[in-house]
Amino acid sequence: MSVKTLPLVHIETFGCQMNESDSELVRAMLKQEGFVFTDDRERADVVLVNTCAIRENAHKKIYLHLSELKTVKKQRPLVVGVLGCMAQNLKSELAHKEPLIDVLAGPDSYRQLPSLLTTALDAQEQGLARKGFALDLSEYETYEGILPDRNDGVNAWITVMRGCDNFCSFCVVPYTRGRERSRDPESILLEARDAATRGFKQITLLGQNVNSYRHEEWDFAKLISAVADQPGIERVRFTSPHPKDFPPALIEAIATHPRICKHIHLPLQAGSDRILELMGRTYTGAEYLALVERIRMTIPCIVLTTDIICGFCSESDEDFQATVHLVEQAQLDSAYIFKYSERKNTIAARKYADDVPDQLKGQRVAKLVEIQRAITAERNRRYIGKTVEVLVEGDATRSSTQGMGKTDGNITVVWDKHTGHSEPGTLMTKHIFDASAATLYGA
Ligand code: SAH
Ligand code: SF4
Ligand code: F3S
Repeated sequence: MSVKTLPLVHIETFGCQMNESDSELVRAMLKQEGFVFTDDRERADVVLVNTCAIRENAHKKIYLHLSELKTVKKQRPLVVGVLGCMAQNLKSELAHKEPLIDVLAGPDSYRQLPSLLTTALDAQEQGLARKGFALDLSEYETYEGILPDRNDGVNAWITVMRGCDNFCSFCVVPYTRGRERSRDPESILLEARDAATRGFKQITLLGQNVNSYRHEEWDFAKLISAVADQPGIERVRFTSPHPKDFPPALIEAIATHPRICKHIHLPLQAGSDRILELMGRTYTGAEYLALVERIRMTIPCIVLTTDIICGFCSESDEDFQATVHLVEQAQLDSAYIFKYSERKNTIAARKYADDVPDQLKGQRVAKLVEIQRAITAERNRRYIGKTVEVLVEGDATRSSTQGMGKTDGNITVVWDKHTGHSEPGTLMTKHIFDASAATLYGA
């Protein structure tokens, strides 16, 4: 290859777990070609920013970050690469508008990064300004055969499928990540075994639509059970599933396999059937509730979390009330609640008016957050007096005299270390004596 000295690369990741996982793939591919990574941006010859496009505030955050990089680039030579969903979504528009950007690569084009960066570094050395773009989406790319260069910790992400064919009307993901495709189960299992050998205790299977995984006769229930059977793995999680793909076999697998975590993130999006229909979610509020019921019947200890959007196109007070009502009925363990943010080119942007005033969207979010917060606090209080098993993750964010870990249901537990503490990756039992909407307190 034509890189002379070893270029130092710094990568920054925004967005969802899929981006975290992609950054690990990018690191692996670049390291293979002689690039060296640094945590210190000041020393880097190349800064890569792996971006998200899901809501406007994700864009804003990244623009802010890019303007910071502009200042750095004025002071010294620097190659800047923008990766991920925003790169794919804004394409050359972003590159032409931003003189800062040397390389732009979408989620299916990372195999081209070594050569794009080498070219950009060479051009920079010769004082030339040359931009490199790789923005083709693929029906096949799964990054098969590349073992990710994983971040340390207890959890290993494994992307099992990429893309999304659902085209929910509000969502940009089908445009930034392309068509749905699933990986070969054998290579997934190989990766799981490799992660176990390297000491990872938890595996999280990732996909934009993870439970629609399909490869020949393998479906998601079969895949997750096989992953959980790999020796050395204590816990297996998955995110994000779609409510439309919950056959009895999957619920049964989660119920019966001791190492599959009893947590399901089940995005609801809205409670009004009219809005659900406009969103293209393919279920009604009643069907969602029936699924929640079915899951709870089979797995009584299940922790259910969700995503909800407030202020989608034409959402009336009555529609919003339907969401409130559904949230009260479902009594889910927690929820991420978002203001609707129109994304260019999506079905909603083309067909419906973004007509709920921003302030009203904000009021609806605040109201729903308050309602859910009370439900979450109440549900968390049920753990008081009980003993839970936690997987230790390390120090609590607020104090190094406290330890932190997660329950099987993915609820955060904090404890004073003097009551008993252990290495990250260890399973411990903790007695819960207090609970808030965010945390269980144990000893
Ligand atoms: N694949 C996942 C969702 C990925 S995006 C799934 O189907 O559940 C994560 C969440 O962001 C979504 O569940 C949705 O609640 C929210 N979201 C997506 N697009 C949005 C938009 N345009 N405005 C506001 N929230 C959005
Ligand atoms: Fe977006 Fe819907 Fe696909 Fe989730 S299922 S990624 S919300 S289009
Ligand atoms: Fe964002 Fe792309 Fe993930 S838009 S949420 S980084 S799939």
